[in-house]
Amino acid sequence: MNKGFIAAAILSLSCSSAVFANQSCDESPLRGYMGNIANEMRSMSTDIKSGDHDAAAQRVETLITYFEKAQGETPYKFKVENLQGESLAVQQAKYEKVVDDTIAVLENLEGALQSGSSSDVRKWLGEIGVQRNIGHGAFRVNC
Ligand code: HEM
Repeated sequence: MNKGFIAAAILSLSCSSAVFANQSCDESPLRGYMGNIANEMRSMSTDIKSGDHDAAAQRVETLITYFEKAQGETPYKFKVENLQGESLAVQQAKYEKVVDDTIAVLENLEGALQSGSSSDVRKWLGEIGVQRNIGHGAFRVNC
């Protein structure tokens, strides 16, 4: 596998959204978990670069626990938009579905790391990028 390419892809996954972070956003627990997720992605990149797939798989398990915590939170955007009642419930359910899908992708990535299939590792890393774009596109406010 082209480790340099994969490492660069992971780095761009974990860093790009931080560029747009802004002080005026509320410091929410969800933002905290997202910061942890970005850090863990960087560590996973280092593990893959050094060929340590077992350590990378452990990182994926940690990522899953952060997404499970993120699952119980509400995006700040819903507060900005003053969502309440039924519309809040509908949007929260959509958000939780995207988190669920992301956890499913991470489980597939863990399986690929354990089986040593480079093409599958690449495929699922790409899918994490897709999930991040869906999640940020729908639920992250630009403040
Ligand atoms: C590996 C994939 C991901 C990475 C590396 C990542 C990283 C980050 C980072 C660094 C932030 C904080 C900076 C900012 O606001 O731009 C953030 C915010 C945010 N992310 Fe992610 N993210 C990922 C996936 C997701 C997914 C799948 C979702 C939704 C299901 C999501 C939803 C959000 C939301 C809603 C915020 C704003 C925080 C808030 O509303 O309190 N992210 N993300």
